[in-house]
Amino acid sequence: MKDAQPRTIYLKDYRVPDYLVDQTRLHFELQPSGTLVRSELHIRRNPAAGEGLPPLALDGVELELLSVAIDGREVDDQQFRVSPEGLSIDVDRPEFVLEIANRIHPQDNTSLEGLYLSNGMYCTQCEAEGFRKITYYPDRPDVMSRFTTTIVASRDYPVLLSNGNEIDRGDMEDGRHFVTWEDPFAKPAYLFALVAGDLEHVEDSFTTASGREVKLQIFTEARNIGKCDHAMRSLKKAMRWDEEVYGREYDLDIFMIVAVDHFNMGAMENKGLNIFNSACVLASPETATDTAFQRIEAIVAHEYFHNWSGNRVTCRDWFQLSLKEGFTVFRDAEFSADMNSRAVKRIEDVSMLRTAQFAEDAGPMAHPVRPDSYMEISNFYTLTIYEKGAEVVRMIHTLLGEEAFRRGSDLYFERHDGQAVTCEDFVKAMEDANGVDLSQFRRWYSQAGTPVLDISDDFDAASGEYSLTVRQSCPPSPGQVEKEPFHIPLKIALLDSAGKNLPLDTSGATEQVLEVTEAEQTFRFEGVSEKPLPSISRGFSSPVKVRYGYSKEQLLFLMRFESDDFNRWDACQRLAFMAMEALQQDYRAGRDMRLSPELLSAYRSVLQNRELDPSLVAEMLSLPTAQVLAEQTDEIDAEAIVAARNFAEAELARELEEDLLAGYHAFSNDRPYRPEAGDIAERRLKNTCLAYLCVTEKPEYLDLAQAQFDSAGNMTDSAAALATLVDRGSDEQAESALQEFYRCWHADTQVVELWFALQASSSQRGSLDRVRALMQHPAFELKNPNKVRSVIGGFANRNFTQFHRADGKGFEFLAEQVVALDRLNPQVAARLVTPLTRWKRYRAELSEKMHAALQMVMESGELSRDLYEVVSKSLV
Ligand code: ARG
Ligand code: ZN
Repeated sequence: MKDAQPRTIYLKDYRVPDYLVDQTRLHFELQPSGTLVRSELHIRRNPAAGEGLPPLALDGVELELLSVAIDGREVDDQQFRVSPEGLSIDVDRPEFVLEIANRIHPQDNTSLEGLYLSNGMYCTQCEAEGFRKITYYPDRPDVMSRFTTTIVASRDYPVLLSNGNEIDRGDMEDGRHFVTWEDPFAKPAYLFALVAGDLEHVEDSFTTASGREVKLQIFTEARNIGKCDHAMRSLKKAMRWDEEVYGREYDLDIFMIVAVDHFNMGAMENKGLNIFNSACVLASPETATDTAFQRIEAIVAHEYFHNWSGNRVTCRDWFQLSLKEGFTVFRDAEFSADMNSRAVKRIEDVSMLRTAQFAEDAGPMAHPVRPDSYMEISNFYTLTIYEKGAEVVRMIHTLLGEEAFRRGSDLYFERHDGQAVTCEDFVKAMEDANGVDLSQFRRWYSQAGTPVLDISDDFDAASGEYSLTVRQSCPPSPGQVEKEPFHIPLKIALLDSAGKNLPLDTSGATEQVLEVTEAEQTFRFEGVSEKPLPSISRGFSSPVKVRYGYSKEQLLFLMRFESDDFNRWDACQRLAFMAMEALQQDYRAGRDMRLSPELLSAYRSVLQNRELDPSLVAEMLSLPTAQVLAEQTDEIDAEAIVAARNFAEAELARELEEDLLAGYHAFSNDRPYRPEAGDIAERRLKNTCLAYLCVTEKPEYLDLAQAQFDSAGNMTDSAAALATLVDRGSDEQAESALQEFYRCWHADTQVVELWFALQASSSQRGSLDRVRALMQHPAFELKNPNKVRSVIGGFANRNFTQFHRADGKGFEFLAEQVVALDRLNPQVAARLVTPLTRWKRYRAELSEKMHAALQMVMESGELSRDLYEVVSKSLV
């Protein structure tokens, strides 16, 4: 165990930087024996920081310092102090040029932070605090500087890239070559990037609204060059969308994307040089599923949108991370909604929020959208910062409306262009542009936890008055016991007995945004002729849990008549949730389980409805996942959840067999593959039907799956068939399909990741033994986060059944892997441990076993700061 606890950093301690860096000139010599970094920093005392000349504090981690000079004179070692965290230099003048030389060892860097090697290519990841692993620097986002970068390397690395525009290139006398890049926009060090490798690229161009021509390039290893088209198309769509919807144009002459195989997260928005996890950029119809195509479109857009929401206007400090991430996720979600099915996009996002973000908000690492403290900032790239942060921006959008929101974003970009600012500045711009008061709304940034709305209604037939009474509460979270009421936009409609939306005011509007601001509040509607059924939180208008005592009949009614597709789906989810609750109770009481007939008839009518968007049908037919069911119960009984879900699935498959088969055939076609919403929807529904049919384990349906597997012309259909065979087929069927698939695709990294994930997350076949065997497979690599996420993450996060085995061996396994991984890659280890941190939510025995596994991690030896923070906070 660590004896010296890592230091906690507090928002309240924020101070402006003592020194500013107007210019940063970097010079890299990339060598196998170690990379030489020389920097020239044009430094100036920050007038806003006060009097005197305090020592200059630079961050630096795992660096080999070679020399320090000020204004051309070597600084003697009396004048500076080196520590494991950085360098402190005594200063005698307010403005000077600092020159530093240091060495780093990218070939030994397995943390994938700073400068590292991936398949022989040099690349960087500097957000949040990776630049300090490259050279000594004030590594904080409020120090913005203009960067010029020269890269010198052997000819084995023909492509040398950095931010901005190329301004020089040439040969060295010793046979090496160099390229110099200049970025005209001042930026924080976390947006710096460098790439060197033997790469190919595809090229295209984009003409901005004002008529400037931008060169677009996507770089990748030669073998992947055929998998860049979709990302390029997505990029151009994103560039156009940001001009049309936000009035934002691109600002450099060139925009580059590079794909790398070893990457901790999805992608990174470095100025002019985005670096992507290969899995988030490379796709072809033969190798990528519909889900992958859509994820790539979203992430390419997300990183591109950061050019304004993140780069031109950046964060003052890392407590403000959601300023750029929440806003940018909101922007990419709206983009995806505009490109595809809006309702389905919303359903997917809300499902994720309700499982993972709600769980985070109810767990030991719960934190506000703008946290007050952290030990390791990498641990705060969370669903709360990203997804809940996006919901907070969405609520502002809902409260203000489209046009007012745009006025606010225009003011924000104009007022803060070139600055490093705070969440407060964002809200203020929204207020100032529209003359509104968002004081109470700001609590969404400072209070953690998922609010709960308890809603009841009343109808007085004599006076024609209908009222909705809303009580809000929010459970305590670490460091926050009492919560003040939130300002919550609640979009509602009222349905009459014919299923029509009632007019809610004299204008005839049938939808209204109620502004809930009190702990308890009643909203009244006049002139209502019959008792209506409320449709609450349409489109999921706020990230809260809504409790209203809907009866099964009312939910069925909503499923038929609700005009808001999100709420229509949600009614179906509520019905399924009630049915699953009842089944769990049966199971625990040792009674025969009996599936709710209402759920059965609801599913049947959905399946028979040819009017609805097929992807909406597929979403409605999907039972809530075990993870959602777990998140929504106070004391998780893993065994009962699994039993209930398996039973329900089997019953539905048996009862709906004919309709499922009809659905399967109705939505099969042999059109050429296109990753377009309409086609994706049909494939999704067809494959949902196939999976259900095979739950029966009848040979004729497994044959259908086998036939689809054998003849599939695209990865979506192939992978869906494979997953079904793996889950439901005989041992022989499953194994031979897996082998055949691997034989076909072993050379394709992304498909191999899919092959791993599909097995590890299979509730039927993803046993612990199999998972251990997969880790011995030659294609597995503990140093590659994607492989770790596919196999270990697939098992711990998406294989509820096997991970929660009663003997606790699943938890022990995860603990072991986390400990091993922490030595290599702390960021990934700290993320992977998450499922174990939920131990308090489980029933006695599993809870104890989970706790023991977590304890084992704690006692395994010295932990990284990343892992220590998560584990120590979760053991409390
Ligand atoms: N800013 C990146 C994004 O757009 C996330 C990168 C953070 N990376 C990290 N290792 N902490 O989502
Ligand atoms: Zn981002």
